[in-house]
Amino acid sequence: MTSISMLAAANLFPLSAFSFGKDTKLKVALVGTGIRGISFWGRRLVREYSDILEFVGLCDINPGRLQFGKEYIGTNCPTYRNFENMVGETQPDLVIVTTKDSNHHEFIVKGLDMGCDVLTEKPLTTDEDKCQEIIDAERRSDKKLIVGFNYRWSPYNTKIKEMIMNGAIGKLVSVDFNWMLNTYHGASYFRRWHGLRQAGGTLWVHKSTHHFDLLNWWIDSDPEEVYAMGDLEFYGSNGKFRGENCRNCAHTKECEFYWDITNNEHLMNLYVKNEQYDGYIRDNCLFRHDINIYDKMSAQVKYKNNVYVNYSLTTYSPYEGWRVSFNGTEGRIEAWMDIPFMKKENLSQDELHKLEMDQNNDDVYIEPIILHKLWKEHETVNVKMEKSGHGGGDKRLHDKIFKNPAETDPFNRAAGIRDGAMSILIGIAARNSIESGEPVKIASLTDLSPRAVRI
Ligand SMILES: NC(=O)c1ccc[n+]([C@@H]2O[C@H](COP(=O)([O-])OP(=O)(O)OC[C@H]3O[C@@H](n4cnc5c(N)ncnc54)[C@H](O)[C@@H]3O)[C@@H](O)[C@H]2O)c1
Repeated sequence: MTSISMLAAANLFPLSAFSFGKDTKLKVALVGTGIRGISFWGRRLVREYSDILEFVGLCDINPGRLQFGKEYIGTNCPTYRNFENMVGETQPDLVIVTTKDSNHHEFIVKGLDMGCDVLTEKPLTTDEDKCQEIIDAERRSDKKLIVGFNYRWSPYNTKIKEMIMNGAIGKLVSVDFNWMLNTYHGASYFRRWHGLRQAGGTLWVHKSTHHFDLLNWWIDSDPEEVYAMGDLEFYGSNGKFRGENCRNCAHTKECEFYWDITNNEHLMNLYVKNEQYDGYIRDNCLFRHDINIYDKMSAQVKYKNNVYVNYSLTTYSPYEGWRVSFNGTEGRIEAWMDIPFMKKENLSQDELHKLEMDQNNDDVYIEPIILHKLWKEHETVNVKMEKSGHGGGDKRLHDKIFKNPAETDPFNRAAGIRDGAMSILIGIAARNSIESGEPVKIASLTDLSPRAVRI
């Protein structure tokens, strides 16, 4: 049995078990050999899980990137420029979709219709019509769709979930969530297709899908209504000058965003050397006129269980980090990550000592969460993080999908189609709300009805 669907039905899990202990390996085909596909879903799977899975096909429209990707992943499987040919000839059990956001739906729908389980990178897709197409395809298929949300698997985010689930602050009533992208990472989204609404659905979808998924999962309810504001005030046409791309720009000395891709051998091999095939430029100017996404975003979301959320995303912060606060009937939780001036500040001397001891182990570090019950002193909950990807979250996500799919997870971190849909629908509703100036009901976007308690 090399299908993830079969056990999914038995376990009521979006994910299910592969053929562990059986003779055959899971046959995996991947479409989209860009940086995410060849590293996280390519090389890492070959290195960590070759005993239980094998790549049977790779597909990309760019033949140069396809060839480089194949070598980088370390597989001998055949390569294809056409997805249907790949799936028809190689008959994979699982298709992994890592193309750009706006065409995920094409491969998800074809993959399901051709009898494969499908694992897609976030976001599920970029608009409500494509989302409905995916929902319909999953309903007519007996196969399963997995959305690779990695943030849920960070031990820090899981601890927040555990505290809320266990009633640490009573009944949750409202959440404030602010995400800051810095002038390096934030800017990077404006350098390539992510800067075009038609390719990435704006950062409301491309980036915020992660944040909205966390919120949906923490709050454990579906979003019901969204009101949002957003603008483009910094990148795009707002720049004082612009060039064709960073490499050959006349303004490198005066532009604080100058980024020399030629210093990065990996990106040169993967992207620049293959521009000749499709004109995909990785170091476009941040100030080009065709950028049409928002660079400041703010939304209010009302959940079906009456929790209110205030959310904001900024894209040119001096530092990269986030903070979230949860208000409950019995107290408040404050959590944050990577805010430079809040590092370890709330730890007592005793805790700092323990932290120092822990940090003798190079592989772990501690991040604090503040729990403040009504009428009491606050306490610090220390979360042990690992230095590997996303505090150990990436490894946990892969293990769940490929090694322990049937294992019960008290935190329900596995994400399926409904999770993928509900997280993008908040961003899509936010976009629509900005255009209309009105609040947008989630139920108006697809045939999914928001539920007070997620299943
Ligand atoms: N979960 C995360 O933290 C995370 C991080 C990075 C990227 N991602 C997601 O992974 C996906 C890929 O990101 P990336 O940075 O590698 O993008 P990328 O643009 O570098 O790579 C996408 C690849 O898809 C190929 N492609 C595009 N259209 C195609 C088509 N019609 N048929 C076949 N191939 C096609 C491109 O040629 C390219 O090689 C995106 O959806 C992104 O949102 C997720």
